[in-house]
Amino acid sequence: MTNVLLLGGTMEASAMAKALAEAQIPATLSYMGRVERPKPQPIPVRIGGFGGVPGLVQYLKDHAITHVIDATHPFAAQMSTNAVTACADTGTPLVALTRPAWTPGPGDNWRSVADIPAAVAALDGPAKNVMLAIGRMHVHEFAPQPQHTYLLRLVDEPKEPAPLPNHTVVVDRGPFSSDADEALMRDHKIDLVVSKNAGGTGSVSKLDAARKLGLPVLMIDRPSLPPRHEVHDIADVLTWLSA
Ligand SMILES: NC(=O)c1ccc[n+]([C@@H]2O[C@H](COP(=O)([O-])OP(=O)(O)OC[C@H]3O[C@@H](n4cnc5c(N)ncnc54)[C@H](OP(=O)(O)O)[C@@H]3O)[C@@H](O)[C@H]2O)c1
Repeated sequence: MTNVLLLGGTMEASAMAKALAEAQIPATLSYMGRVERPKPQPIPVRIGGFGGVPGLVQYLKDHAITHVIDATHPFAAQMSTNAVTACADTGTPLVALTRPAWTPGPGDNWRSVADIPAAVAALDGPAKNVMLAIGRMHVHEFAPQPQHTYLLRLVDEPKEPAPLPNHTVVVDRGPFSSDADEALMRDHKIDLVVSKNAGGTGSVSKLDAARKLGLPVLMIDRPSLPPRHEVHDIADVLTWLSA
């Protein structure tokens, strides 16, 4: 009998969970557990790390998992790499439900950087008002550029203040609207937006707003991952499951 492990933490994973519930396919959604108020889900949820590849291998065996759907965020490289290894070790079919990366269009003024350290280095220079739209985890890495005034948009209220002398926190979770993001950027007199190339629709509004305001974007490229079967649509995952 089919028994799916869905690796989540994204809007796409929530949509996939809904589709699995509607199709009455037995499945469990797994969260790392970083977000304090995860959305209610129509399928059973487990929370917490597995304990690396050995822990995930054990989980797949203990729960007789027949298929793994990796719908984690494109920057969750450790989890995705572990899934590739654990599925290969156990012979469990794996599909990744991924979002195509964003690409610049007319009117966009992007500078791409390879990773977060490169983004930090690129911020060297005079003080600016910077919207740091990269989530909570990597904010501390920007401490070497304390001259800027940072606007942080986070899903949860931070437990500790960010190590940035001048910053404002806005607590909000997507999806966001480009009009609201434009107003936010105007209110905070933003000069530069720093973004991960997450892809998808949930947080693209900041790029639309930056384009409308003529603001430059420092775009952090995705981490590289081992080769795996990838699809972009929930329907394709359902087809894969039924094959
Ligand atoms: N990185 C981002 O920008 C971002 C943005 C939005 C949402 N998220 C979501 O937040 C979570 C963590 O992201 P991350 O970048 O910290 O990931 P990561 O660096 O790839 O993962 C670090 C560790 O967290 C655990 N983990 C991650 N995702 C998990 C899941 N869905 N279920 C169970 N354990 C999980 C695993 O621990 P063990 O090794 O112990 O198994 C993994 O090795 C992911 O679920 C991701 O989809 C990430």
